[in-house]
Amino acid sequence: DINAYAPTPPMGWNTWNKFACNVDEKLIRGAADALVSSGMKDAGYHYLVIDDCWQVSRDGKGNIVADPQRFPSGIKALAAYVHHKGLKFGIYSDIGTKTCQGRPGSRGHEFQDALQYAAWDVDYLKLDWCNTGTQNAPASYKTMRDAIDATGRPIVLSICEWGKSKPWLWAKDTGNLWRTTDDIQDRWAGKKKWDEASCCSNGMLDILDEEADIASYAGPGHWNDPDMLEVGNGGMTNVEYRSHFSLWAILAAPLMAGNDLTNMRPEIREILTNKEVIAVDQDPLGKQGVRAAKNGDLEIWSKVLADGSRAAVLLNRSASEQEITARWIDLGYPATLSVRVRDLWAHKDLGSFKDKFSAKVPSHGVVMIHLQP
Ligand code: GLA
Repeated sequence: DINAYAPTPPMGWNTWNKFACNVDEKLIRGAADALVSSGMKDAGYHYLVIDDCWQVSRDGKGNIVADPQRFPSGIKALAAYVHHKGLKFGIYSDIGTKTCQGRPGSRGHEFQDALQYAAWDVDYLKLDWCNTGTQNAPASYKTMRDAIDATGRPIVLSICEWGKSKPWLWAKDTGNLWRTTDDIQDRWAGKKKWDEASCCSNGMLDILDEEADIASYAGPGHWNDPDMLEVGNGGMTNVEYRSHFSLWAILAAPLMAGNDLTNMRPEIREILTNKEVIAVDQDPLGKQGVRAAKNGDLEIWSKVLADGSRAAVLLNRSASEQEITARWIDLGYPATLSVRVRDLWAHKDLGSFKDKFSAKVPSHGVVMIHLQP
């Protein structure tokens, strides 16, 4: 059962959001070192994934070839370095003829590539959807699933077809996570066109909105993926990054950091390693949170946890500070229930409340709470 490979949403670090094609083995070794020394590994970030551009060609036998200039020691040695740090190692390909950056894709080489990844001791494969022509998504991804299964190695499969064919309807037994939208960009909100041919990149809130209706399809081993984290990449304020991280946790999203770990401000490290917020994301029930209430720019997102308690995010999308009220009735609790409330960013118990809880929330900010009846 492939769902056993990711009982809680995968956590790790991926090269793309910060480094794009600028990847080499020195960067990966440095990221592995930093995952450990920064406390990220202890907080649960276990997968280190090289995204696009590590590969350059195929050899005479059709084997995929890593860039010899950028990865002179080879991928197997790099995986060993990552494993030696107590981390897991991930890699990227594309189920079409070429990757999104024009490198060789896995189309027609699925079994050969899966064997190669297994021989390199790969633990995680992100599989993109560029240059797929008229390919059928469920069938194409299933071919790689079968190829991975044939190797006998339990490789987590991250499906990256941007939600085009509604993977939440078919991918549960094919992949462990599936992207739900086009790429995230490092901004609060607002869709932007990439170019004339393709639409669009998303701000953080655009992705959140697209997740609202598909929560029921996620569960242990098979997760909606609202794309990787931008926390720490510079395009949002610390308040906004805190919102981004809180909302991804409420969504039971895979938490793949994408910032420069070797040069991380303390405020950013504090966001990414907040154990109370991570515990919400990683709760063993694996139930994705939902938008429980909305009043203009003010929203309540809530997530049911394994012990029957709840986590909630009070989100203020507006341009000024606002008071937001979370009502028990919207969270599935009777109004008369006495509930202990804890602030997961202040790390403080706030006391017992009945019926509702109100807090002042900064512009573009959140208050994130745990509710214990
Ligand atoms: C697509 C994916 C991104 C990234 C790039 C790499 O845009 O959605 O996450 O992997 O390709 O080229």
